[in-house]
Amino acid sequence: MITLSDPSLFTEQVFMGGAWCGARSGRTLDVDNPATGEIIGSIPNCDGDDTKAAIAAAEAAFPAWRARTAGERAMLLERWNALVLENITDLARIMTAEQGKPLAESEGEIRYAASFIKWFAEEGRRVGGRMVAGPEANRRILVMKEPVGVSVAITPWNFPAAMITRKCAPALAAGCPIVIKPSEYTPYTALALGKLAERAGFPTGVINIITGKPHPIGDEMTANTAVRKLSFTGSTKVGALLMRQCADTVKRISLELGGNAPLIVFDDADLDVAVASTMASKFRNAGQTCVCANRILVQDGIHDEFVERLGKAIAALKVGPGDALGTTIGPLINAEAVEKVRALVEDALGLGARISVKADNPMKGPNFVAPLMLTGATAGMRLASEEIFGPVAAVFRFGNEDEAIALANATPYGLSSYFYTEDLHRAFRVAERLEAGMVALNTGAISMEMAPFGGVKQSGLGREGGEEGIEEYLETKTFHIAGLKS
Ligand code: SIN
Repeated sequence: MITLSDPSLFTEQVFMGGAWCGARSGRTLDVDNPATGEIIGSIPNCDGDDTKAAIAAAEAAFPAWRARTAGERAMLLERWNALVLENITDLARIMTAEQGKPLAESEGEIRYAASFIKWFAEEGRRVGGRMVAGPEANRRILVMKEPVGVSVAITPWNFPAAMITRKCAPALAAGCPIVIKPSEYTPYTALALGKLAERAGFPTGVINIITGKPHPIGDEMTANTAVRKLSFTGSTKVGALLMRQCADTVKRISLELGGNAPLIVFDDADLDVAVASTMASKFRNAGQTCVCANRILVQDGIHDEFVERLGKAIAALKVGPGDALGTTIGPLINAEAVEKVRALVEDALGLGARISVKADNPMKGPNFVAPLMLTGATAGMRLASEEIFGPVAAVFRFGNEDEAIALANATPYGLSSYFYTEDLHRAFRVAERLEAGMVALNTGAISMEMAPFGGVKQSGLGREGGEEGIEEYLETKTFHIAGLKS
């Protein structure tokens, strides 16, 4: 039971074609609280037919939605943004109950989610086009931007609100109706956002939210010819599968996939900054983000001091349920996640790594993992090539800049990377050599609405946020006007 000021924000129904309803089959799925294992409620287990119906509702809404002015669409988005912020406490409580993250992080995520709604309300007004000089005096060529059409979004459990608004706000601003499938582990935040979107006054069918298991919904979303665009955040394995499935109907796709972020601390780094931002990057959401520092590479000269300071900060982390005062590390999402972290640590220990620091874990629940630091990590360990997705800081040692770059780039992923130096020349050299969609110097914070977010290599395709985010939902049409009389 989640205590809310507005209990109507908690709903166990899905939203399609302007109506709240169950799955046609009547089937449901239980959702639990990862901190306690208690069942929070159940959600409709939608199948392919439900998905088809939601897509049909979006398709029916498309002509009128695209015909609205950008200003009208922006007004609805602004209203939605205001409602999200007004209800931040309730939304954060729902998020913490189903996802586990500390309440302060949940509130931070709601603000982050709202920032995309506001940003794209504004960006929508700036969608233009251009006129190109033609090859003849009496010809003009207009390059026009149009909404790509019905869009679908498949979103993950680690950011139950922000990954939705980062996709759906640009879609809506561009004039595309959307069908959203949140993770079945964290559906209630999404449904609460849907309640607020309804209150904001979006027309019927413009926003649809369906819940259930990934396969039947994903299969229909990728096969359905009415769907022109798919955006997904999640693993590289699933992203590649969706990409293959979208090939038959040649859909536009955006994929924000796995990462294996290097965080490089050079000898000349400001260690206060490096330690504080390593903590922020590594332990946000208990290490369950695709941009978390996965490999902490530290140069010989400052290795021991850095490790000592990082160790103190890790020992001070407070493991607990997300709704308890002072908690900084909540539970992992489920037993499978805990097992993966355990196996990666075992593997590293077997290959010579050492646990230098381990924070207390007073919790009895099975999903709580004590944050720890491993030193002596090396390239042959599984955690050097796999995403840890848990509160484990793996420290590698390196000698010189070339070695650091080679280690950093030795991965099929290329989402984010971080480095710490006070040397301007090195700053440019390293930033240009790192193979990543996002590179951060002297900060661990790269997630913000105005900056493009996305990866290279097997970390994905396309960008979210920034000016680029709305382009993903726009088609370019070239209009040739010939024979103009002078
Ligand atoms: C993610 O982990 O998928 C997104 C993280 C972010 O937006 O910062």
